[in-house]
Amino acid sequence: MRRRLAAGNWKMNGTAAALTELKALAGAFPSASVDVLICPPATLLHRAAEVAGDTGITVGGQDCHAATSGAHTGDISADMLADAGASAVILGHSERRTDHAEQNEDVRAKARAAMDAGLTTIICVGESLEQREAANTLDIIGGQMSGSIPDQSTGENLIVAYEPIWAIGTGKVPTLDEIGEVHDFIRSRLERRFGEGVGRSVRLLYGGSVKPSNAADIFGVSNVDGALVGGASLKAQDFSGIIDALERV
Ligand code: 13P
Repeated sequence: MRRRLAAGNWKMNGTAAALTELKALAGAFPSASVDVLICPPATLLHRAAEVAGDTGITVGGQDCHAATSGAHTGDISADMLADAGASAVILGHSERRTDHAEQNEDVRAKARAAMDAGLTTIICVGESLEQREAANTLDIIGGQMSGSIPDQSTGENLIVAYEPIWAIGTGKVPTLDEIGEVHDFIRSRLERRFGEGVGRSVRLLYGGSVKPSNAADIFGVSNVDGALVGGASLKAQDFSGIIDALERV
């Protein structure tokens, strides 16, 4: 039985004032059936962990370096995230693949470091509009999975997020059939590589313009175990609407 997860990716948004949203969210907890994770900017991680306290909400990072320490100005290691209170980290987000030219091998090395540090690793995969229109979606997702997901993955330390690039921040969402096709594909690839036990226990999140208004439909799709939410995770009211929808699945 996979526990459902609502994960919020604040991206490069939020100063200390944004913690009031997290406080509001924390006031509405705990949820018996849904895990809630907030990934604020690294500058807020420690304070966010304190605000989340023992509410059941957990916090995570948005990236980490593949090395444990060293001469890497501006970077943050997985151990540092854990030390600041993180229990998870998002890796291979399309914005990092684009802005920082991260390749599958980079994501895999980071994921190994994160897993070694005891973090749950949310590995993002997703196609561009051009790739979808050329009917290459499943090839792209399959390649990203085999390149980015490390061999040491388990149902505890790995979560896969399907985020079609063209759906991120655009208000455009794939059809429910399209989401289902990709999620079923990801599940079958995981089962083939890691065996049925592990393959079936890895949680799969959908991300890309998830809102309170479309969440219930998306959560009804097979092999969707929750969402990775950008814009709608910044406001407690919106994110609560998504959590509510997930609780009602
Ligand atoms: P939006 O929910 O703003 O489309 O962002 C999705 C995303 O990139 C989450 O990682």
